[in-house]
Amino acid sequence: MNKYYSLIEEGLDIESSENTTKHLNKYHYVSGMFKELVSNFQIQDFLSTAPLEKIFKYENNTDIGVFFQEHENEKLPSKEIFMKNVDIPLPIWAKEFQYHLLSELYSENSCGWCLDLFVSSGKDVSLGTHIDNDDVYTVQLYGTKHWILDAPDLYRLKKLIYAQLIKRLSSSETWVNNTNQPLDFIDPTIIIMQPGDFLAIPAFALHKVTTLTEEYNLSFNVGIRQEYYWQKFLAQL
Ligand SMILES: [Fe+2]
Repeated sequence: MNKYYSLIEEGLDIESSENTTKHLNKYHYVSGMFKELVSNFQIQDFLSTAPLEKIFKYENNTDIGVFFQEHENEKLPSKEIFMKNVDIPLPIWAKEFQYHLLSELYSENSCGWCLDLFVSSGKDVSLGTHIDNDDVYTVQLYGTKHWILDAPDLYRLKKLIYAQLIKRLSSSETWVNNTNQPLDFIDPTIIIMQPGDFLAIPAFALHKVTTLTEEYNLSFNVGIRQEYYWQKFLAQL
């Protein structure tokens, strides 16, 4: 996995200072990074062996399911323990990459980390426009997705919250649209994620992900929570 991490390392714009968690400043996209590995992925094998009954469905959205594990304020375990305890149905190389990312990027004062595998079928499926408090590192495993994202903007986030245009239920949740009006992107970047592509998206960036293919769509993530950074920003105002 060192080989893959070194492929992205130079392009990752990571900031860290004393008492501040490491965080991403801007997005980073690498086309075809895992092309060879994903070419061995068999969707029919996945569908016949994955415990699909364990999938989590988002409220009001039965089109997308996710296997996930969330770890709040926890130290990263050893690799052996990690590999044994991750029960998300991912290929070994994907779990190893998740661990490698966490071991490089998760710092002691990060507020938590999570692992996800998103599963959907059909075209134009989306969770809608939203803002996460996680830096998200994602790999497209199967199918094609359309990403649209703005740069992270803490001042705009605060304005959107105060104007009640977005809301979240708790500090571990995503900010979602609070109105019937669409949330506007200011200077968006569009990325088409093909199988094997890698994308790192900073926390606090407005984004929307939509499936482009009729068939199944799978992507896996590592999320590193940046809530500490957000709270620090609010306290400094
Ligand atoms: Fe998101």
